[in-house]
Amino acid sequence: MSTHGTGYDPELYARRAASFGAVAAEYAAHRPDYPAEAVAWALAPAARERGAALHVLDLAAGTGKLSGGLVALGHRVTAVEPDPAMLDELRRQVPAATALGGSAESIPLPDASVDAVLVGQAIHWFDQDRALPEIARVLRPGGPLATLSNAEDDRVEWVAGLAAVSPTQVSYLGWETNPSRRIAPHPAFSAAVDEDFPHSMPRTIESLTATVATHSHILVMAPDERAAVLAGIGDYLRSRPETSAGAFGLPLVTRVQRCVRAGG
Ligand SMILES: C[S@@+](CC[C@H](N)C(=O)[O-])C[C@H]1O[C@@H](n2cnc3c(N)ncnc32)[C@H](O)[C@@H]1O
Repeated sequence: MSTHGTGYDPELYARRAASFGAVAAEYAAHRPDYPAEAVAWALAPAARERGAALHVLDLAAGTGKLSGGLVALGHRVTAVEPDPAMLDELRRQVPAATALGGSAESIPLPDASVDAVLVGQAIHWFDQDRALPEIARVLRPGGPLATLSNAEDDRVEWVAGLAAVSPTQVSYLGWETNPSRRIAPHPAFSAAVDEDFPHSMPRTIESLTATVATHSHILVMAPDERAAVLAGIGDYLRSRPETSAGAFGLPLVTRVQRCVRAGG
């Protein structure tokens, strides 16, 4: 995979990519959802061509955060996910979706069988050299491939301060410097365009700490190191007027990146 910066450790990266199943229920409870407007924008090219009820592939579906939103909007959803524990949680959370084991590099669907492919918070785990041709194979010509990524809005001062104690933070301002979060140019797809959707997640000190505890960097840490990082986050949040007095909103931005399968 050519999309990582210096310091890329393939063994650690593979462990992080496979780390989520151990905390599947916590992931479902504490990771943010995606705004309905962001999902609608991601699907717009397919909705224009094929109407309001689409067959959508939620690729790297995890516990079904995107799948649930898609079902609620009236779409038929196939969810593909490599981790069996995440897939079990998805089946509990979103029974209406068809849940299949598989990966971005090996998708268990026929050619040209879906109207759109959505990827939530996972494009950085893919080997895009293998995944993009595989996505192009299952996606109908003219259909969108879109990635949705939630970043913490570090234009807000207390959120920027959190990065000092929470090294796993997904930074909004740092997004551009992380090429593994972008869809790589590929002849089967149009050039990708971006749109941002600000939103907010209701949190407390305890629940924001629980959110951070589901990040892959934290999941692969030794227990002592993990406990120290999480304790530091609690100390920081107790020290800030914005977060010390009870419930607060964690400012987020969903960045949607969208391209279209050529040949439509
Ligand atoms: C951060 S979670 C995102 C889950 C879900 N899409 C969401 O938005 O909440 C990343 C997911 O990608 C999955 N994953 C890792 N490598 C993958 C690959 N090569 N192909 C497909 N999924 C992969 C992990 O098992 C995990 O469920």
